[in-house]
Amino acid sequence: MSRMDTIRARHSVREYDGRAPEGEALVALQEVIGECVRESGLNIQLVTDNPETFEVVARFGLVHGAIANIAFVTANGAADDEAIGFWGQKIVLAAQEAGLNTCWVALCSRRKNKAVLSTGEKVRLVIAVGYGKTQGVERKTKTVEELATVECADAPAWFALAMEAAQLAPTAMNNQNFHVVLHADAKTVSITAPKGRWNIVDLGIVKRNFKEAADELGANWCWEVD
Ligand SMILES: Cc1cc2nc3c(=O)[nH]c(=O)nc-3n(C[C@H](O)[C@H](O)[C@H](O)COP(=O)(O)O)c2cc1C
Repeated sequence: MSRMDTIRARHSVREYDGRAPEGEALVALQEVIGECVRESGLNIQLVTDNPETFEVVARFGLVHGAIANIAFVTANGAADDEAIGFWGQKIVLAAQEAGLNTCWVALCSRRKNKAVLSTGEKVRLVIAVGYGKTQGVERKTKTVEELATVECADAPAWFALAMEAAQLAPTAMNNQNFHVVLHADAKTVSITAPKGRWNIVDLGIVKRNFKEAADELGANWCWEVD
């Protein structure tokens, strides 16, 4: 299965069968979390017996039957948001490849989360992880024309696929509040998002999906450095 196939197959899943990740899937999940912790320096914890964190009173965004979550713990408030999105989405894609399902969840009980916290640290948000009762559903997306500006004469073929990956990236409330620019050299890419509740986490997630697709194609591209 290619990374692009994984990106296409992933949908948010909100109904789980009550099992925590087990066997080879658990090992794969622990491995990718360890790798992301080492490379990013973030505090990311797999919490395996914690259905309470999804017990919230709300009309929207309820997750049922999930007992495990990946908790992003930080003492820096929103300052780590882009990194959380970028590294968290790497975990989401690896989980999908291991036969698990996921859902990014901002609307959770932080008080009832069982992640281990040091003084000053809080759970910023979590990803529900487990075995979905379904594989989720396709949802609407903004068009590439709405989401991107192409400043060169002809966009290279890899850009179309990387944009598809960006379109398929999960964003809070499916807001898709990001904008991609392919610069005049047909190689340099910038992606930006306006400040807003979860927009910067979304930005990191979109950057991860874009990068995975472009790199898989061996594209000659780079991020704009500011
Ligand atoms: C930062 C972030 C927070 C989210 N919070 C919630 C949430 O609290 N409850 C929920 O049901 N879905 C939540 N989602 C999932 C989005 O609703 C979902 O990704 C979006 O509707 C797109 O659907 P898809 O993931 O199936 O592509 C969140 C997604 C992101 C990226």
